[in-house]
Amino acid sequence: MNANDNVVSTAREGAVAVLTLQSGPVNALGTALRQGILAALEAAEADSAVKAIVLIGGGRMFSAGADITEFGKPQSGISLPDLLNRIEASLKPVVAAIHGNALGGGLETALACHYRVAVSSAKVGLPEVKLGILPGAGGTQRLPRVVGPRKALDVIVGGSPIGAKAASGMGLVDELAPEEGLRAHAVAFAERMVAEGRPLLKIRDRDDKIAESRENPGLFAEFRQENARKTRGFEAPEACIACIEAACRLPFDEGLAFERAEFQKLVSGTQSAAQRYVFFAERQAAKIPDVPDDTPARPIARVGVIGAGTMGGGISMNFLNAGIPVTIVETKREALDRGLKTIRTNYENTARKGRLRPEDVETRMGLLTDTLELDKLAECDLIIEAVFEDMGIKKEIFSKLDTIAKPGAILASNTSYLDIDAIAAMTNRPADVIGMHFFSPANVMRLLEVVRGEKTAKDVIATAMQLGRKVGKIPVLVGVCHGFVGNRMLAERQREANRLILEGVTPWDVDRVIHDFGLPMGPFTMSDLAGLDIGWSRETNKSESVRDLLCEQDRRGQKTGAGFYDYDAKRKATPSEVTEEIIARVAERQGVKRRDATDQEILERTLYPMVNEGAKILEEGKAIRASDIDIVWINGYGWPVYRGGPMFWADTIGLPKVLERLRAYQAEYGDAFKPAALLERLASEGKGFKDL
Ligand code: CAA
Repeated sequence: MNANDNVVSTAREGAVAVLTLQSGPVNALGTALRQGILAALEAAEADSAVKAIVLIGGGRMFSAGADITEFGKPQSGISLPDLLNRIEASLKPVVAAIHGNALGGGLETALACHYRVAVSSAKVGLPEVKLGILPGAGGTQRLPRVVGPRKALDVIVGGSPIGAKAASGMGLVDELAPEEGLRAHAVAFAERMVAEGRPLLKIRDRDDKIAESRENPGLFAEFRQENARKTRGFEAPEACIACIEAACRLPFDEGLAFERAEFQKLVSGTQSAAQRYVFFAERQAAKIPDVPDDTPARPIARVGVIGAGTMGGGISMNFLNAGIPVTIVETKREALDRGLKTIRTNYENTARKGRLRPEDVETRMGLLTDTLELDKLAECDLIIEAVFEDMGIKKEIFSKLDTIAKPGAILASNTSYLDIDAIAAMTNRPADVIGMHFFSPANVMRLLEVVRGEKTAKDVIATAMQLGRKVGKIPVLVGVCHGFVGNRMLAERQREANRLILEGVTPWDVDRVIHDFGLPMGPFTMSDLAGLDIGWSRETNKSESVRDLLCEQDRRGQKTGAGFYDYDAKRKATPSEVTEEIIARVAERQGVKRRDATDQEILERTLYPMVNEGAKILEEGKAIRASDIDIVWINGYGWPVYRGGPMFWADTIGLPKVLERLRAYQAEYGDAFKPAALLERLASEGKGFKDL
């Protein structure tokens, strides 16, 4: 028995050889599995008693595709494209039998087979674009030949998997098999193909579907235009489109060569390195060294939410969506009614767009209990406080909850800045207290900062992390500090953005640079969206900052039609001279010297302090790993995934360069730019955050 026998087992069912892939957990097509398939295929071909071959996945799935950990390393053994050409060239029919997932190279393998059968629950897709690459084993050439270029664009550029039923409707799956009898069904299917003497169907030989592009030559231009916003800044989507165009234009083998060249370009680039890093970083974030995976979680059958405002409502929706009943509490009837109405309207809008069945609106609303009495939270297993950001109020609520909540209930605060330990100290059960910081809009944004207090129990952490995942969030564990990871770093950017505008850079230039970098919006657009009057009141604010003066003129952001920008009825922003005058006035009063700054300086001044703050967060142990910080920024603030998050980005620039610039700005602007000791150390050792 050689090593490959372990990863592919062959069994005979009459004249059919069944090759089972057994390279858990996901049958990633690494060297050993590729060699194993080749060896088993050759043996089946050489055996004259074998008339057909079935390829099936052992364990949870058919295959999740190429082994992502092998990218960027020298290849050994047969390449996936060569293996697939070899399967396609087999003189005996090869049937792919799909359950679980057939993704990326997994689906490409199935496309190289002559037939595909799948159970209805299976999912197939080409998600490579999400890793900054393209289906590089013939996927961009074979898929359009089966489903036509338009659908191929959706599947390949969109990257989302589709269900087997939909795949069968497109002709991508030849037959659906019963859930429990895939193997037997595939064998019978193969026998039938042999008995009926069906010719071997090779997708490479098909031309009927790609003819569609000849009838509609504007197809690709239209698709590019429709998706321009979604694909802004990314390199892979355009390469995918170019390959599908090539499939329609070139003979199959030339198309394959084109695809190969585009794949090589992408896989060796920074964007793909960043996106592959993010794939693993997201999975790493779930792992907490001192809270093992098997830590038993507390059962959560009902959630309580205090506050029916924007945050409370959004938070509640996450649980309702997952079928978990919610009790929502407010102090006044009108506020409660307003909150309920917003939740209902949100659901109705989703239903109107066809993304939710109308009956589900009622099912979800039916899981919601509203009340004005805090005592009603006694039956909840988890209570999340989402009231105004005021320590006094929060402390009062937690001391009341301590008397109301049942033993073992988890008491969580959605605070975005405040000290969880001080909140926990108001109870006699600090071990049950934790932060669960959702990001606005809470029903949409995927980030959940789970804030571990000094005394938070391990099973409470395990519960918050697991529940977060259950409701579709990406939970990241962080420690107690002002603003935790995300807002603490954001404050650095905001401070420098404010300083830059006083120096004479316009808010529009700051926003443009940040937007061009790939973030969804710059700091001033973001402030206008959130509202400039958060924490501002005419009576108490006499500091006369730019923000105060804007508020005084009733320029409180988008909601009042003006903030830093002017807004028209469609909320389109235009730069405002009023704002520029206010800034100039404040600058003069504060004696700030006006000067020009290059785009590069704007970028460095706003983003390097964030990296520096990230280093301090790591030094202080407020994040477990640099990649957790990156996951926070990607999922909570829209940091461009193709730049891998601020810490990964800093590594790509090189820490000595970042350090040198921080020192230069420190000399000019003082200790706000003082480099973190960790950054100094890593730079001097020639290391990056990735080496921690
Ligand atoms: N390569 C290497 N490792 C992989 C992998 C892959 N393609 N897919 C998953 N894994 C690893 C995960 O990192 C994880 O490892 P740890 O347990 O050590 O954290 C383990 O397998 C299990 O994965 P998940 O935790 O993600 O399991 P899941 O059940 O939640 O999800 C999945 C399963 C939907 C298949 C998901 O793992 C996934 O989306 N995988 C990636 C799919 C993909 O992008 N395929 C394209 C690969 S590129 C390609 O194929 C290029 C080509 O054209 C040649």
